[in-house]
Amino acid sequence: MKIAIMGAMPEEITPILERLDSYESIQYAKNNYYKGSFQGVEVVVAYSKIGKVFSTLTAATLLQVFACDILLFTGVAGAVNPELKIGDLIVASKLSQHDLDITIFGHPHGYVPEGSVYIESDKDLRALAKQVAKELDIPIKEGIIATGDQFIACEDKKCFIQDTFEADALEMEGASVATVCDALGVPFFILRSISDAADMDAGFNFEEFVESSAKISAEFLLEMVAKLAILIGNHEKR
Ligand code: ADE
Repeated sequence: MKIAIMGAMPEEITPILERLDSYESIQYAKNNYYKGSFQGVEVVVAYSKIGKVFSTLTAATLLQVFACDILLFTGVAGAVNPELKIGDLIVASKLSQHDLDITIFGHPHGYVPEGSVYIESDKDLRALAKQVAKELDIPIKEGIIATGDQFIACEDKKCFIQDTFEADALEMEGASVATVCDALGVPFFILRSISDAADMDAGFNFEEFVESSAKISAEFLLEMVAKLAILIGNHEKR
């Protein structure tokens, strides 16, 4: 079992790399992939750069070139649901592209023919997240994440995304990663910690909290990988 651990920015994967047993860096398609192990499990870690195009490339590479069996994404997001505060964790139940718009032809926002408005993440990995959260007494919320190639710092756009997609949080990579994993039949999990509220203060808040929120998400994700390591170990012993 090989686990892909992905972020979009260096801040999102540095706390992961710092805790690996060991790793080597491999260059592929103008990006670095860090192949190593964590508690005896093989992992490949990478950050894609921001946005749907780069994250699609990285997710596809992790699955097709590095042959990872599952993909776990860690990073930060803007809160849409007012219950979510800076540093809170949100697990995507399903994801949609909020900037995909061919509504002029009568289709709903986020939809293209032969696609779907939402892509659901893996149920077992979400259940594992809930179990880890319970054991460590860390609150996590499950909800809808909307993805687009825009940093949202405006109430109007945020309201549109909330009303149209019932989104709880928004970011710039989750739905594209979900699309790749879904197409290739690979279980995936998207975790985000809130860095801002996608409002007029979002730029300042993002800069202030990106590092601390990214760390919160990365540390929770590693707790899940540690749990997976035990499950994989038990399975292989049988
Ligand atoms: N990631 C974190 N905050 C964000 C925001 N406000 N817009 C888009 N992506 C984000």
